Amino acid sequence: MQEFRDKKLRGERITALTAYDYPTARLLDESGIDIILVGDSLGMVVLGYEDTTQVTLAEMVHHTRAVARGVKRALLVGDLPIHTYDEPAEAVSTARALIEAGAHAVKLEGGVSHIPQIEAIVAEGIAVMGHIGMLPQSVREEGGYKVKGRTQSEAEALARDGQALEKAGVFAVVLEIVNPEAARQITSALSVPTIGIGSGEHCDGQILVTHDLIGLFPWFTPKFVSPEARVADEIRKAVQIFIRRTRSGES
Ligand code: KIV
Repeated sequence: MQEFRDKKLRGERITALTAYDYPTARLLDESGIDIILVGDSLGMVVLGYEDTTQVTLAEMVHHTRAVARGVKRALLVGDLPIHTYDEPAEAVSTARALIEAGAHAVKLEGGVSHIPQIEAIVAEGIAVMGHIGMLPQSVREEGGYKVKGRTQSEAEALARDGQALEKAGVFAVVLEIVNPEAARQITSALSVPTIGIGSGEHCDGQILVTHDLIGLFPWFTPKFVSPEARVADEIRKAVQIFIRRTRSGES
């Protein structure tokens, strides 16, 4: 994982996107993306759940296997789903399940509160990506997807989380919907790279849910995303042409 620290040192931005299936993984990999995350956003953009809190380990393993078949060069990271890493021993066995499914590393949500779990996974030789700021697995307690690090005390708590994660041995830290100035400060204080999502331009890399980037989940797009394609529109257009052709008796 030294390559990601080296990229940070060289000022080379790290690129990361999510995938949940073989063709998407293969397309991202062939396009040259650095990191492919099988995120538990799977629950919303693929499985049709309201949020990520219903995603199971069996679902993550199933989709990680499919993605692994399409990845030749990118780093493949698997997300630990909610309540599968409440204790260090459980965290290790969940991480192992994702590695056996083909992930090269795992990601989990939480800062200072999750150091024992991270240390236990790292001690097994499994690379861990941290995730702080807005934590989607806590969206119900939080009452929505809100910006983190706006106040001085929130920014200081995030900075402590970042430091604790680096000390515990993570190779990178996702900063989700963090106030851009707080994200900038965390980024400059850490030697491991920060990968931002909705956290401004000062992170060492950026990650997005691929469905948001390519316009494949048109019913909701986060404010901070500028889609680069409208794949949902293309699908609707192709399906309507097929329906018309079939109903009119054309082959
Ligand atoms: O689940 C996910 O897709 C994520 C990223 C958006 C960071 O955690």
